[in-house]
Amino acid sequence: MTSQEKFEKVVSLCKRRGFVYPSSEIYGGFANTYDYGPLGVQLLRSIKEIWWKKFVEDREDVYGLDGSVLLNPKVWQASGHVDNFTDPLVECKKCHKRYRQDFLEQEGETNCPECAGSLTEPKMFNGMFKTFVGPTEDTSSVAYLRPETAQAIFVNFSNVLNSFSPKIPFGIAQIGKAFRNEITAGNFIHRTLEFEQMELEYFIEEGNWEKEFEKWLFDMLKFAYDLGISKESLRVREHTSKERSHYSEKTVDVEYMYYFGWKELYGLAYRTDFDLKQHSKFSGKKLLYRNNETTEKFTPHIIEPSMGVGRTFLAVMLDSYVEDGDRIVLKLKPSLAPYKAAVFPLVRNKEELVKKAREVFDGLKLQFSTVWDDRGNIGKRYYSQDEIGTPYCITIDYQTLKDNTVTIRDRDTTKQKRIKIFDISLFVLKSI
Ligand code: GAP
Repeated sequence: MTSQEKFEKVVSLCKRRGFVYPSSEIYGGFANTYDYGPLGVQLLRSIKEIWWKKFVEDREDVYGLDGSVLLNPKVWQASGHVDNFTDPLVECKKCHKRYRQDFLEQEGETNCPECAGSLTEPKMFNGMFKTFVGPTEDTSSVAYLRPETAQAIFVNFSNVLNSFSPKIPFGIAQIGKAFRNEITAGNFIHRTLEFEQMELEYFIEEGNWEKEFEKWLFDMLKFAYDLGISKESLRVREHTSKERSHYSEKTVDVEYMYYFGWKELYGLAYRTDFDLKQHSKFSGKKLLYRNNETTEKFTPHIIEPSMGVGRTFLAVMLDSYVEDGDRIVLKLKPSLAPYKAAVFPLVRNKEELVKKAREVFDGLKLQFSTVWDDRGNIGKRYYSQDEIGTPYCITIDYQTLKDNTVTIRDRDTTKQKRIKIFDISLFVLKSI
């Protein structure tokens, strides 16, 4: 199976089994927007919960935030997004397809990749979505949907300082939607118009930036490995000065190897004191940290690890997808699996079996996400659960009625063993 075939199989599995649907599909879809289905939303939530636990709850130096999508438009002037959040747009003179010139350059293309037509001169195009607040649609009512969650953190810097008096270094983290009017989107959920970011702004003293940068790079990679993204499919690449965002003095991308090349999974940037200084200038408010020991006041510098939820989802799905004979298995880490266990009565038309299985199911689903299945034969049910990554299948059979034991079957080894009903939850909980 080539990596392109695998990609296509994962896209089709996502649709078929309720992970990801094209958005507004009954209207022919809406390009580069997707909806996460019943199983996809479970996986998405697990990714975010694991991130939040690792980077916020388990640390003493990071504070959480949930800022609004719409911010005062001055925020985007101060941040430089109104002037600089632009990409060079070119259009094919023949088929009128539009591209980002910098992406074409990276691929070594000078003409239209679709029809080889010649391209127009590049025009700079701002990637922020505009909207209007209030009943009039004039320049004074323009607002923007945030293209990154980070700015809500910067504008709340003093609020968090005043409420918690943190000691530097400290971070403020947020998970939320961001919106970008991407010129060339596509490749399924890799590049979409709206997406969720898991971002952390880490406030430091300037002299420590290189050390902190290395630490955060390590933590980002570890997060990816812990979710089951393989080391072989990741690499770290530093941005050239031309690629770097206007606010950054150093950026590295953690890139994922797709069939269409190495592409950004996560970004890590040293934003210097650019953002706090800009907001201070535009708002007229001092955004300073006061060192209690020396009473010296200064503008902290910032290291920013930024990670996309959708891209994590896609990398996890691709690296979990395995074909084993005619069995399709999603070898998701149990902590990510949409269902941790499935419960089956051996047959659906024996009342005593169904009743017992229901008791087991009702008990387990109070503790973790559990699914009931009584369709078809046991073999088909196993196949069906393997394909969505359920780590354990529990069958209630005639022996259960005699001795309160069940069979529990492992997704990856396909081995079954008998355990007591009483022991099931501990067995499953130990793996998640
Ligand atoms: N605050 C810094 C920032 O926004 P970025 O590299 O532009 O940096 C951060 O975006 C992360 O957000 C990326 O590494 C990626 O995971 C995700 N991301 C960015 N644009 C995306 C898009 N159009 N679709 C899906 N995810 C995207």
